[in-house]
Amino acid sequence: MSIQIVRPARSVQGSLVVPGDKSISHRYAMLAGLAEGTSRLSNFSTGADPHSTLGCMAALGATVTKTGEGRAQVIEVLGVAGEFKEPAAALDCGNSGSTMRMLSGLIASHPHTFTLVGDHSLTLRPMERIRKPLSAMGVKMELVEGHAPITIQGSELTAIDFDTPIPSAQVKTAVLFAGLQATGTTSLTESVRTRDHSEHALKAFGAVLKRDGERLSIAGGQKLKAIDATVPGDISSAAFFLCAALLFPDSNLVLDSLGMNPTRTALLDVLTLLGAKFRVLTVEEHHGEMIGTLQVNVAQGGLKGADISGALTAQLIDELPVLAAIAPYTRDGIRIRDAQELRVKESDRIALVVKNLKAMGAEVTEYEDGMDIPGGQTLKGGVIDSGTDHRIAMAFAIAALRAEGETEIHGAEAAAISFPEFFAYLDELCVR
Ligand code: S3P
Repeated sequence: MSIQIVRPARSVQGSLVVPGDKSISHRYAMLAGLAEGTSRLSNFSTGADPHSTLGCMAALGATVTKTGEGRAQVIEVLGVAGEFKEPAAALDCGNSGSTMRMLSGLIASHPHTFTLVGDHSLTLRPMERIRKPLSAMGVKMELVEGHAPITIQGSELTAIDFDTPIPSAQVKTAVLFAGLQATGTTSLTESVRTRDHSEHALKAFGAVLKRDGERLSIAGGQKLKAIDATVPGDISSAAFFLCAALLFPDSNLVLDSLGMNPTRTALLDVLTLLGAKFRVLTVEEHHGEMIGTLQVNVAQGGLKGADISGALTAQLIDELPVLAAIAPYTRDGIRIRDAQELRVKESDRIALVVKNLKAMGAEVTEYEDGMDIPGGQTLKGGVIDSGTDHRIAMAFAIAALRAEGETEIHGAEAAAISFPEFFAYLDELCVR
């Protein structure tokens, strides 16, 4: 387990291109794997999770080739033209809940036996949420007490009309991917509108998808065609640098090629409430996704406070750890509710955020579905336990920037799950 030392900073200055969005990379990799022809994917996520997805696509018969290095790297995926082969071994989803859940929907109609496995953290995550709709469509799917390993006996699927009981883009995607290959038209209604990358990606690969109010429909039996695409920068990775910049009145940060899909920008709304000033310098659209250049400064008087609950919580679920990590430095504090889903992410993120805030000397009250973090606090450098969770490791590196003294992040290597370059970029942009 690696330890990263983070020293306090005076401001955050410069410009940054964050690696490709993790959510979009997963979807492009999966649909490219199923499609006919060769897809060329630029700015693909450098995180380990989407590479687990690419590994699964190769095991299912797609040909995955990487050309070029660094930012010039292109991932080429020659798809199976609608027919996955039976993998020789279990499909290894690594640490990635997105891979396991969305892939289950993608492969369910193929006439093979599949086993999906993952690391210890993934084996603790709830999978019943995908078993329910997929078994209603006709697939035989076995879990071990609601968890991975998953065994799927693929078979012909029948369309369903499904209301998602919890806000989850992964569950929505599993149903849409299965619906694409089912008999009949599958419909799905979400209680809270979640990230819509799957809808855009399906359309980019040539599928027809309809939205009527909150109801999405997809006809089965549609074929996909390969695409050339550039993955927008990951706003959930950018979130760490946005929050870092806001800790200092003199910061000036520009983010280039950033994904600004409106179903992912709830963070920007909350940061605006807190006192951030954003300027969108450019914006354009690729395959339905918005990509732009964003400049951020903090308003005079520093950060205020915020209450985060209901649909807003669901829409910025991945950004809550870093918002909690900067909360003690705000004037009025941050209160988070309706976030029980945080307990079943890569770690119990409520418990770990509370534990690590306390390790830095912060006052915080834990609730089953959230926490209250008072503002106006001074934190001390401490020893942080990432719990092998990438977002916890990165969130507390940001808290460390305004603490007194150095902070040790234990299990810092977890950052590589979504953002391997994180600590190097942090060093580059922090003025000390
Ligand atoms: C994701 C959806 C969210 C999010 C995860 C990525 C996606 O999970 O937390 O990091 O790519 O669809 P849930 O669907 O479990 O809410």
